[in-house]
Amino acid sequence: MQIKFKVNGEAREIEVTPFHRLLDLLREDLGLTGVKEGCGKGECGACSVIMNGRLIPSCLVPAPQADGAEIITIEGLAEGNSLHPLQEAFIETGAVQCGFCIPGMIMAGKNLLDENPSPNEKEVRTALSGNICRCTGYTKIIEAVMLAADKMDSKGSGSDE
Ligand code: FES
Ligand code: FES
Repeated sequence: MQIKFKVNGEAREIEVTPFHRLLDLLREDLGLTGVKEGCGKGECGACSVIMNGRLIPSCLVPAPQADGAEIITIEGLAEGNSLHPLQEAFIETGAVQCGFCIPGMIMAGKNLLDENPSPNEKEVRTALSGNICRCTGYTKIIEAVMLAADKMDSKGSGSDE
Protein backbone atom coordinates (compact mmCIF):
# COMPACT_ATOMS: atom_id res chain seq x y z
CA MET A 1 0.00 0.00 0.00
CA GLN A 2 0.98 3.61 -0.53
CA ILE A 3 1.22 5.73 2.62
CA LYS A 4 1.69 9.47 3.12
CA PHE A 5 3.16 10.99 6.23
CA LYS A 6 5.49 13.70 7.46
CA VAL A 7 8.89 12.99 8.91
CA ASN A 8 10.90 15.79 10.48
CA GLY A 9 8.55 18.27 8.82
CA GLU A 10 8.97 16.85 5.32
CA ALA A 11 6.06 15.26 3.44
CA ARG A 12 6.82 11.73 2.20
CA GLU A 13 4.92 9.18 0.18
CA ILE A 14 6.11 5.60 -0.03
CA GLU A 15 5.00 2.06 -0.83
CA VAL A 16 5.01 -0.35 2.12
CA THR A 17 3.87 -3.89 2.81
CA PRO A 18 1.78 -4.79 5.87
CA PHE A 19 4.82 -6.62 7.27
CA HIS A 20 7.15 -3.66 7.02
CA ARG A 21 8.08 -2.13 10.39
CA LEU A 22 8.22 1.61 10.92
CA LEU A 23 11.84 1.08 12.01
CA ASP A 24 12.72 -0.37 8.59
CA LEU A 25 10.83 2.34 6.78
CA LEU A 26 12.79 5.03 8.62
CA ARG A 27 16.22 3.40 8.56
CA GLU A 28 16.26 1.56 5.27
CA ASP A 29 13.82 3.35 3.01
CA LEU A 30 14.46 6.89 4.24
CA GLY A 31 18.06 6.54 5.44
CA LEU A 32 17.32 7.90 8.93
CA THR A 33 19.94 5.73 10.58
CA GLY A 34 19.88 7.68 13.84
CA VAL A 35 16.94 5.41 14.63
CA LYS A 36 18.70 2.35 16.04
CA GLU A 37 17.66 -1.27 16.26
CA GLY A 38 18.65 -2.91 19.54
CA CYS A 39 16.33 -5.63 20.78
CA GLY A 40 13.69 -5.46 18.04
CA LYS A 41 11.13 -6.39 20.72
CA GLY A 42 10.07 -3.12 22.34
CA GLU A 43 12.37 -3.53 25.32
CA CYS A 44 15.42 -1.29 24.83
CA GLY A 45 14.14 2.05 23.52
CA ALA A 46 16.93 2.42 20.94
CA CYS A 47 14.40 2.74 18.12
CA SER A 48 12.26 5.39 19.83
CA VAL A 49 10.70 8.12 17.74
CA ILE A 50 7.88 10.56 18.37
CA MET A 51 4.76 9.86 16.33
CA ASN A 52 1.79 12.21 16.64
CA GLY A 53 3.21 13.59 19.88
CA ARG A 54 3.81 10.19 21.52
CA LEU A 55 7.04 8.34 22.15
CA ILE A 56 6.85 4.97 20.42
CA PRO A 57 9.18 2.03 19.79
CA SER A 58 9.36 2.02 15.98
CA CYS A 59 10.33 -1.67 15.98
CA LEU A 60 6.84 -2.60 17.16
CA VAL A 61 4.83 -0.35 14.87
CA PRO A 62 3.74 -1.64 11.45
CA ALA A 63 4.75 0.87 8.78
CA PRO A 64 1.17 1.21 7.45
CA GLN A 65 0.23 2.81 10.78
CA ALA A 66 2.37 5.80 9.81
CA ASP A 67 -0.17 6.77 7.16
CA GLY A 68 -1.19 10.35 7.90
CA ALA A 69 1.18 10.60 10.88
CA GLU A 70 3.73 13.22 11.88
CA ILE A 71 6.98 11.62 12.95
CA ILE A 72 10.05 13.16 14.55
CA THR A 73 13.37 11.34 14.67
CA ILE A 74 16.72 12.39 16.11
CA GLU A 75 17.60 13.82 12.69
CA GLY A 76 14.78 16.35 13.07
CA LEU A 77 16.02 18.01 16.26
CA ALA A 78 18.90 20.21 15.15
CA GLU A 79 18.08 23.42 13.31
CA GLY A 80 20.69 23.95 10.62
CA ASN A 81 24.03 23.99 12.43
CA SER A 82 22.42 24.55 15.83
CA LEU A 83 22.02 21.47 17.94
CA HIS A 84 18.90 20.99 20.03
CA PRO A 85 19.48 21.86 23.72
CA LEU A 86 19.17 18.16 24.55
CA GLN A 87 21.95 17.33 22.10
CA GLU A 88 24.12 20.12 23.52
CA ALA A 89 23.44 18.94 27.06
CA PHE A 90 24.37 15.32 26.31
CA ILE A 91 27.70 16.51 24.92
CA GLU A 92 28.37 18.96 27.75
CA THR A 93 27.67 16.45 30.51
CA GLY A 94 29.69 13.69 28.83
CA ALA A 95 26.58 11.48 28.77
CA VAL A 96 27.60 9.63 25.61
CA GLN A 97 29.90 6.62 25.47
CA CYS A 98 29.34 4.27 22.52
CA GLY A 99 26.32 6.38 21.56
CA PHE A 100 24.07 3.55 20.42
CA CYS A 101 21.29 4.25 22.92
CA ILE A 102 21.56 8.03 22.77
CA PRO A 103 19.11 8.85 19.94
CA GLY A 104 16.41 6.92 21.80
CA MET A 105 17.36 8.56 25.10
CA ILE A 106 17.19 12.00 23.53
CA MET A 107 13.81 11.31 21.94
CA ALA A 108 12.50 10.11 25.32
CA GLY A 109 13.94 13.27 26.88
CA LYS A 110 12.30 15.43 24.23
CA ASN A 111 8.96 13.71 24.74
CA LEU A 112 9.24 14.42 28.47
CA LEU A 113 10.28 18.07 28.09
CA ASP A 114 7.51 18.71 25.54
CA GLU A 115 5.00 17.65 28.20
CA ASN A 116 6.81 18.75 31.34
CA PRO A 117 9.42 21.48 30.78
CA SER A 118 10.67 21.44 34.40
CA PRO A 119 10.85 17.80 35.49
CA ASN A 120 12.45 16.70 38.72
CA GLU A 121 15.04 13.95 38.75
CA LYS A 122 12.49 11.25 39.57
CA GLU A 123 10.33 12.30 36.63
CA VAL A 124 13.35 12.18 34.31
CA ARG A 125 14.28 8.70 35.56
CA THR A 126 10.70 7.52 35.03
CA ALA A 127 10.52 9.02 31.53
CA LEU A 128 13.75 7.28 30.52
CA SER A 129 12.95 4.00 32.23
CA GLY A 130 12.12 2.31 28.90
CA ASN A 131 15.56 3.10 27.49
CA ILE A 132 18.48 0.82 28.17
CA CYS A 133 22.13 1.90 28.12
CA ARG A 134 24.85 -0.72 28.37
CA CYS A 135 27.67 1.77 28.89
CA THR A 136 27.03 4.72 31.15
CA GLY A 137 25.24 3.84 34.35
CA TYR A 138 22.62 6.52 33.56
CA THR A 139 23.74 9.25 35.99
CA LYS A 140 25.11 11.54 33.31
CA ILE A 141 22.17 10.85 31.02
CA ILE A 142 19.78 12.01 33.75
CA GLU A 143 22.01 15.06 34.35
CA ALA A 144 21.91 15.83 30.63
CA VAL A 145 18.12 15.90 30.48
CA MET A 146 17.99 18.12 33.60
CA LEU A 147 20.56 20.47 32.02
CA ALA A 148 18.57 20.59 28.78
CA ALA A 149 15.46 21.56 30.76
CA ASP A 150 17.45 24.45 32.31
CA LYS A 151 18.77 25.52 28.91
CA MET A 152 15.30 25.48 27.35
CA ASP A 153 13.84 27.31 30.34
CA SER A 154 16.41 30.11 30.10
CA LYS A 155 15.84 30.41 26.34
CA GLY A 156 12.10 30.56 26.90
CA SER A 157 12.42 33.26 29.53
CA GLY A 158 14.64 35.31 27.22
CA SER A 159 17.60 35.47 29.62
CA ASP A 160 19.79 33.62 27.11
CA GLU A 161 20.20 34.80 23.50
FE1 FES B 1 12.83 -1.21 19.47
FE2 FES B 1 14.59 -2.22 21.20
S1 FES B 1 14.80 -1.98 19.05
S2 FES B 1 12.67 -1.24 21.63
FE1 FES C 1 26.56 2.92 24.84
FE2 FES C 1 24.38 3.89 25.95
S1 FES C 1 26.21 4.98 25.46
S2 FES C 1 24.65 1.93 25.10
